[in-house]
Amino acid sequence: MSETRVAVLVGSLRADSVNRKLAELLRDQAPAGVTLDLIDGLAELPFYNEDIDTPDAAPARAVALRERVGTAARVLAVTPEYNGTMPAVLNNAIDWLSRPYGVSTLTGKPFGVVGTTPTQYGGKWSHADAARSAKIAGAVVVEDVTVSQSSVDVDVLHDPQVVAKLRDAVARLVDFQQETVAA
Ligand SMILES: Cc1cc2nc3c(=O)[nH]c(=O)nc-3n(C[C@H](O)[C@H](O)[C@H](O)COP(=O)(O)O)c2cc1C
Repeated sequence: MSETRVAVLVGSLRADSVNRKLAELLRDQAPAGVTLDLIDGLAELPFYNEDIDTPDAAPARAVALRERVGTAARVLAVTPEYNGTMPAVLNNAIDWLSRPYGVSTLTGKPFGVVGTTPTQYGGKWSHADAARSAKIAGAVVVEDVTVSQSSVDVDVLHDPQVVAKLRDAVARLVDFQQETVAA
């Protein structure tokens, strides 16, 4: 059976990021036949600028990002929330993936978003915004994959029920089928 690769965009650059650790946990406990490919280097992506996004000379980091995400079967964002929306690093990655206009790397890609923050809302505005942005960029948002997990009363990385819920979200993203799913 062929391997399903899920490109994972982590919205925190912090060395001790809970969301990065969550992405690593989900990678390490991925379903059989599924690879979670954590995309590094988002900090080195320049801010999106149409002047430097030219067919012959797009930044190497952006070209690599498009290639890595474009060849994945699914895309998963694992992200905290900053000031009521997604962190700029994730927004910037989605912007790069969304262009050139009309040939977005995200077109037809099943997209899910999960994450955790230390508030009662668990980052739901961030997750809603990331989903809306990805959808506008052409992704097929798998709504029931979204998990905005509060860490106020729970140790997200070690609570068996929370981990099971998040692992289930990954499984649902992988299992999602539609007529026009991209490769
Ligand atoms: C600039 C900034 C803005 C933040 N705004 C929010 C927010 O709007 N909502 C929220 O739930 N948490 C907010 N937080 C707290 C983050 O959710 C928290 O720091 C979280 O642990 C970051 O995730 P990480 O551990 O993966 O880095 C903010 C943190 C920073 C640094």
